[in-house]
Amino acid sequence: MPEIIIKRDPEEMSDEACGLVLAAAARKPAFALGLATGSTPRGLYERLRRAKGAFAKARFFNLDELHGEGPDSALSFHRALREQLLDHVDHDPGNVRFLRGDADDLEAEAEAYEREIWSVGGIDLQILGVGLNGHLGFNEPGSSLGSRTRPKTLEATTLAQYSRGGQGPRSLFVLTMGLGTIMEARRLLVLASGEEKAEIVQRMVEGPVTAEVPASIVQMHPRVQILVDEAAASRLKRRDYWKWVYANKWRVGQ
Ligand code: F6R
Repeated sequence: MPEIIIKRDPEEMSDEACGLVLAAAARKPAFALGLATGSTPRGLYERLRRAKGAFAKARFFNLDELHGEGPDSALSFHRALREQLLDHVDHDPGNVRFLRGDADDLEAEAEAYEREIWSVGGIDLQILGVGLNGHLGFNEPGSSLGSRTRPKTLEATTLAQYSRGGQGPRSLFVLTMGLGTIMEARRLLVLASGEEKAEIVQRMVEGPVTAEVPASIVQMHPRVQILVDEAAASRLKRRDYWKWVYANKWRVGQ
């Protein structure tokens, strides 16, 4: 069963997420951290920036990248993660392996990426958001539940989601970790906030596990924490139960 953590608002959600990431860093300073982009984890990264020294030994991977975007191009997820987090914390640039959206051969880049995750012993903690259509990474509805890192075609709704408030992706294509790749991370931390995510959060947590809602695959992960604010939790049928479980978590075995 996933652990569902419901916080009052995005600020409290980000505070809690920050605590969870820093606890993972304290347990294993050389941990491999998978980073998501998008608006949801921004508050988390803002808070992690204050823990400057926590990432000196960490390894970093990213969940996905837009096709055609190099590490320095304005729209690249690589650049966004540098600006939102890496530029502000101590880290070894040699320990950063982000997908290259500008690779000549996207298939080869995806395969090399899988090998590199494998070569460091896998991802210890993967941070994730969820798309309005249920995508996880850029595994759009219909993606194979066992998929590996590969080029993918975005849905029109995702293009619209990413084009709100400014310039959207210049290509229909992306590179994304596959659902099978994500599921191999030792821990998953899924974040969602806001009323507009309420329906998809309900389907992800309480609906059937189906490729129609790729994020529902996280129900099968042995160590997943789903951290949401009240607005995103508002449609959960077992909302009170999830709160009850979390409130009583530490009493088990006492
Ligand atoms: C981003 C990613 C996407 C986002 C999702 C939610 O790297 O892979 O799955 O996590 O689209 O985006 P926001 O947080 O902007 O609502």
